[in-house]
Amino acid sequence: MNEIINVIKTRRSIRRFLPEQIKDEEIQTIIEAAIHAPSGHNEQPWHFTVIQNKELIDHFSNVIKKLMAESEVEWIASMGRNEKLHIFYNAPTVIVVSGRKNAYSALIDCSAATQNMLLAAHSIGLGSCWIGLIRFLFKIEEEVRKLALPEGYEPFFAVALGYPDPTKQPRPIERKRDVVNYIK
Ligand SMILES: Cc1cc2nc3c(=O)[nH]c(=O)nc-3n(C[C@H](O)[C@H](O)[C@H](O)COP(=O)(O)O)c2cc1C
Repeated sequence: MNEIINVIKTRRSIRRFLPEQIKDEEIQTIIEAAIHAPSGHNEQPWHFTVIQNKELIDHFSNVIKKLMAESEVEWIASMGRNEKLHIFYNAPTVIVVSGRKNAYSALIDCSAATQNMLLAAHSIGLGSCWIGLIRFLFKIEEEVRKLALPEGYEPFFAVALGYPDPTKQPRPIERKRDVVNYIK
C-alpha cells in the first residue's frame, strides 16, 4: 500500500505513553508537517506552543478536570470527577495549537495543521492524541497567559505526544462506510 495511505489508515489516538521525552528532531519533523498544511488565502495563521514542563502539563490537566466536573453535561462532569484521568494521558509533550484571531479561516487551517501533526507523529513511530477538552482551560485568562502566545492569537486545541506504550495499544476501529454519494 502507498506509504501515506498506510499512515493515514493505521493512525489511532494514543492514550498510553512511555514517560521518556521525545527528541527535539522529532518535534521539528512534526512542526514542519504542521506548517505545510493548506490554509485559506495562504495566511498560515497558526502558532504552536510546545510544552514539556510536566508540572505545567499536570496543572493544566487538574484545572481542566475541575471545570469539567462542574459541567451540566453528564459525560463531561463524570470525566472531570474521574481521579485516574489525566487530560493529556501523562504525555511528556503537549503542543497547543493557536490561530490568528483576524485570519480568514484560522480554526479550519489549524485543524488541517493538527491532522498533519498526528500523521507525521505516527509516521515516525510516535503516538499522539488530539485534545479538544483543553478548551476548558481557555476560559481562564490567567491560564491562557501562561502559554505566552503572540499578540492577536487564540488557542484552539492541543496534541498530546510521546512514545506509545507498546504493551497497551488500540486496535483499528470500524469506520462508517455509508458516507458517500456519487454524481456522475
Ligand atoms: C476535534 C477533536 C477533539 C478531540 N478531543 C479529544 C480529547 O479531548 N480527548 C481524547 O482523548 N480524544 C480526543 N479526540 C480524539 C477522538 O476521540 C478520536 O479521534 C476518535 O475517537 C477516533 O479515534 P482515532 O483517533 O483512534 O481514529 C479528539 C478528536 C478531535 C478530532
